[in-house]
Amino acid sequence: MMTKQFPKGFLWGGATAANQFEGGYNEGGKGLNLADVLPGGKGRLKLLAQTGFDFEIDHSKYTYPNHEGIDFYHRYKEDIALFAEMGFKVFRLSIAWSRIFPNGDELEPNEAGLAFYDRVFDELHKHGIEPLVTIAHYETPLHLIKEYGGWRNRKLIEFFDRYVRAIFTRYKDKVKYWLTFNEINGATHMPLLGLGFSPEKEETRLQDSFQGLHHQFVASAKAVKLGHEIIPESQIGCMLIYAPVYSYDSNPENVMHAKREGDIFNFLCGDVQVRGEYPYFADRYFDENNVTLDIEEGDLEIIKEGTVDFISFSYYMSRTDKKIKTPEEIGEGNLIGGVKNPFLKASDWGWEIDPVGLRVSLNELYGRYQKPLMVVENGLGAYDKVEEDGSINDDYRIEYLREHIEQMGEAVEDGVDLLGYTSWGCIDLVSASSGEYSKRYGFIYVDKHDDGSGTLERKRKKSFFWYKDVISSNGKNL
Ligand code: BG6
Repeated sequence: MMTKQFPKGFLWGGATAANQFEGGYNEGGKGLNLADVLPGGKGRLKLLAQTGFDFEIDHSKYTYPNHEGIDFYHRYKEDIALFAEMGFKVFRLSIAWSRIFPNGDELEPNEAGLAFYDRVFDELHKHGIEPLVTIAHYETPLHLIKEYGGWRNRKLIEFFDRYVRAIFTRYKDKVKYWLTFNEINGATHMPLLGLGFSPEKEETRLQDSFQGLHHQFVASAKAVKLGHEIIPESQIGCMLIYAPVYSYDSNPENVMHAKREGDIFNFLCGDVQVRGEYPYFADRYFDENNVTLDIEEGDLEIIKEGTVDFISFSYYMSRTDKKIKTPEEIGEGNLIGGVKNPFLKASDWGWEIDPVGLRVSLNELYGRYQKPLMVVENGLGAYDKVEEDGSINDDYRIEYLREHIEQMGEAVEDGVDLLGYTSWGCIDLVSASSGEYSKRYGFIYVDKHDDGSGTLERKRKKSFFWYKDVISSNGKNL
């Protein structure tokens, strides 16, 4: 099958996050972070929110899959060689903040942590792969959560600044592409992951989340400015979780509701980070939801001066919105709300599959901002089966990715400036929402299971060979 032409130099690759694949959670002087106290299994986010952060690390009732991840910490050479075999141009990974500052509030960074990422970046460059680094991906140091209350506390801006300065200075010759906060706009839905706290009551969720977000906006803008100073050729992006919001029907009440939900979810954070100011609709929304932000003098100037160079986003699903919905209409797997869309099928985890929604997203984002875009997460979490001969025939994953890449090609043809595509979990890793190994996204299978068993051996899936061909043909062979 032939698709549209992708730009020359298009950055094909894959994406990961430190806490979901590195393992080595207590090696090299690393401190604990949020993910280290997340137990395995569905409902883990709720569980942690209920119990607070006083989980004992070796609590016998729970498993902690993020502790071992898939052991990239020790196997990075083998994994990077596999990425290179697929022809990756770029590899997205995050730096675990608590490897660099184990508690988060130290004055000096941890040399062993810095040295680890030196080795990883050197290995990537050896294979001609450009690193794309997320600075904060759901892994706030635990000490900052317990002692300071996470991003609710303004002091985190200062700690983050120290961390960012340390990594920009250290990796200035090795890393050109950076992202500040992963899925920043997901924070109001999942404050625990993004902001490192659980609002005490539903009534204060929005107030607390937006205050935490305001601190992240300032921290992110400072990072962009600093990055440009330390690494003049750097490209620093924001990272959104994007879901186009469709109206359930043509009832104007629903249409207006969907429009505003989309504005708040998709564009509020984007406008602050890309345009450098809160959007026109923010005041009314904050008033109606009892949100009063504590904005200090100088904050808005910092935000204005630290706008991003490009916009990156994750895309898994669209959201179908209805002003008044019954409980039966709610899509169960849809983490970001909405009702079931009768035109869409869903994954085994209930995530609705909507390739055209990716073209919609790309057009909406480019239409609003006219800045280069990058799709830095997209993929299908599925159960894989290893056949007796050792093969893994993941045709469902190939179909999912093919349809999404086709729609990206359409968006490029529409005129969207698209820099690259890194599919999520290019190697199987621990799921963020459920802590499962069995929710697999990879082109590379990892022999590791929910009960903790497995050899960690890597195997190429059918999609591995397919993606290799996609990359070598620059998206022509799908
Ligand atoms: C994104 C996150 O929300 O979705 C990743 O940035 C996450 O960390 C990915 O892994 C897929 O979600 P899940 O819950 O299937 O791992």
